[in-house]
Amino acid sequence: MRLLIVSNRLPVTLSRKGEEFVFEKSVGGLATGLSSALDPQHNPNISNLETLWIGWPGMDVEDPLKPALTDQMQSQFNAYPVFLPEETMENFYHGFCNSAIWPLFHYFPSYAAFKEKHWEDYQRVNQKFCEILAQKIKPGDMVWIHDYHLMLLPKLLREKFPDTPIGFFLHIPFPSFEIFRLLPKAWRSAILEGLLGADLIGFHAHDYVQYFLRCVLRILGLEHNMGKLVVEDHLVHVDIFPMGIHFSRFNEALKDPEVQRETETLKQTLQDKKIILSLDRLDYTKGILNRLQGFENFLEKNPQWHNQVTLILVLVPSRIGVEHYQLMKKQIDEYISLINGKFGNIQWTPILYQYRSLPFPALAALYHQSHIALITPLRDGMNLVAKEYLASRADKSGVLILSEMAGAAHELGEALLINPTTSKEIAEAIQMAIEMPISEQIRRNEILQRRLQQYDIVRWASEFIEKLKGMEEKQRGIRAKMLTAKDEKSLTAKFVKADRKLLFLDYDGTLIPLRDDPERAEPTSELLHALEELSKDPKTEIVLISGRNRKFLEKWFQSLPIHWVAEHGIWIKEKGGDWMLTQSARNDWKSKILPILQVFSDRLPGAFIEEKEYAIAWHFRKADPELASLRCKELLDDLILFTANIDIQVLQGNKVVEIRNAGISKGTAAMRFLSKDAYDFILAIGDDNTDEDLFQILPKSADSIRIGLTSTHAQFNLPSHKQVLSLLQRLTERSQPR
Ligand code: UDP
Ligand code: G6P
Repeated sequence: MRLLIVSNRLPVTLSRKGEEFVFEKSVGGLATGLSSALDPQHNPNISNLETLWIGWPGMDVEDPLKPALTDQMQSQFNAYPVFLPEETMENFYHGFCNSAIWPLFHYFPSYAAFKEKHWEDYQRVNQKFCEILAQKIKPGDMVWIHDYHLMLLPKLLREKFPDTPIGFFLHIPFPSFEIFRLLPKAWRSAILEGLLGADLIGFHAHDYVQYFLRCVLRILGLEHNMGKLVVEDHLVHVDIFPMGIHFSRFNEALKDPEVQRETETLKQTLQDKKIILSLDRLDYTKGILNRLQGFENFLEKNPQWHNQVTLILVLVPSRIGVEHYQLMKKQIDEYISLINGKFGNIQWTPILYQYRSLPFPALAALYHQSHIALITPLRDGMNLVAKEYLASRADKSGVLILSEMAGAAHELGEALLINPTTSKEIAEAIQMAIEMPISEQIRRNEILQRRLQQYDIVRWASEFIEKLKGMEEKQRGIRAKMLTAKDEKSLTAKFVKADRKLLFLDYDGTLIPLRDDPERAEPTSELLHALEELSKDPKTEIVLISGRNRKFLEKWFQSLPIHWVAEHGIWIKEKGGDWMLTQSARNDWKSKILPILQVFSDRLPGAFIEEKEYAIAWHFRKADPELASLRCKELLDDLILFTANIDIQVLQGNKVVEIRNAGISKGTAAMRFLSKDAYDFILAIGDDNTDEDLFQILPKSADSIRIGLTSTHAQFNLPSHKQVLSLLQRLTERSQPR
């Protein structure tokens, strides 16, 4: 089995130094975390799995140079580069990814710019990745897509490879609905639909999962059950996988002679100062200015600690092409000078500042030598630096001050959790950390380290991959009842052979898609044509069996020689005959129920009542889905009380509650037709609970299909009305005209 990892950022970044090409380790949690997860020396599970990492190498090169560089990257780093023109990258990476999604998903809506040309290139690049993958994917492969750069890719890939397991992991927060909805309408639906192309979608934290599912419900109208959704013909599972770190690499770093050397150098330079470490990519989400404010506040309030505390501030250059990043760099530089000028002296510089990326030995030495880690992002998907610092404290000393806005805070409750916007809280936490007794530091870190050790990066990757593998089995289960090409062939063969054929066809959701406004759910000319052609066959009887009222059926199907059933079986009109009431139904109960429904309609904008002759339907397809779900439950409760002594039944359909006479159903109506002749081919197709009454009364020899992948008494499922139309068209081709 092979695992294809797909992300914008590869584990190595290509750059040009003069005439030479050089490869540098990429920065950022995605690249560092995934690299250790894929390291076979560290992760034995992965050694059974062939892997290939596909992504952007960091720059474009002239075409003739591409093949050699591609070979080199593949053989040296197991990475396959997707070269993209600089201009596309500008719009896609700096534009859409880092000037629209990144600020928005990190709750900086005022920094977000929504430009159509950026969106166009976002789609283009996702498409390009799909094309590259299409060349690479082999049968039996799994694909794991990472992060916000490629949110459209799961769906694009699913369309080409319906059976390939596709996983997606988001490394940044997924924002609340109120923030997500700031995206233009078409983009937000496309992004959600894009993600739902995956079998498994992972987030770092419970909140992100909930926000995502809520957006899916509110924007696409799809409900989930314990994080599982059925999207067309496949199951999507949404779950939490908090990313861990390579614990032992950090915990045992001091065994490495290079780390020892770096540590010695640091010791001599810093002597006996209390060291506070601040380490991030230079990003406005990391809260660096607020952090400096907190440190300044601490120095102001604690003159006794002057000359004894040093803040080492490491900023890793990042996304230099984006305006807000450049601006922030300038502000930070100025603020550091201000604090150093205000408090420092010849012997003491309060802030030691480095603007560069550190190699592992320097990083590990810094973690080792720092008494405190001050990590205060304003918003962060996870934050691996916080975890790496804790893991590095081999003697279990040290204090982590962590923002409660970091995903890592969900797992690191024993750290000093602060609100990153309040400098007073940061200052107090620094003071508390400096003065914390060593026994207390050890007590907290023991718990924290145990947790980090248990759920490390190997566990994170293995759990995701195992779950993704398991999805294949689940997809097979859900598709078990799907009408396959083979089933359809034998169905058609039976149809051709038969002399007396009877088709029961439901209308809404079966022959046409469900619409917000039922009046607009008109039959298409293609559908009318297919029905007309089928009805020309003298051996075929068609029964349109619907919940619609008589008027609607008359309006659209007048010209067809078919039978009609209206109001779920109350009315029957046989071909060429008149409407008949099937049973002596009553409708005097309607006046009691209507006022209740009216109250509920008033309380749910978008809901409305459809009054039929012997039934009432309360529709809420157009209403806010969350409120609708609540109101629907309340209504059902109320109706149970009100209908206790009346002979009517309440049925919940697809975004509709139907109240009708008891004892009358599509099943009872269908019996009338079934008893008229000895049919040797019977097929019933429907999409909701009212059709289950029909499926249940059919003789064993009959065939039945339920639209949508729900459990059913029907023999088969089909994903949507589209396949019904194709099926009818194919039957038409095989039927014999009069
Ligand atoms: N890192 C690094 N060199 C540096 C600074 C950071 O390799 O000079 C690594 C660090 O070890 C961590 C990652 O970059 O694994 C940063 O991940 P994090 O989740 O903290 O933040 P992100 O950059 O992904 O927002
Ligand atoms: C965050 C993102 C990653 C990204 C990293 C570095 O961790 O989640 O997808 O790779 O930052 O950013 P960059 O833009 O340099 O790839």
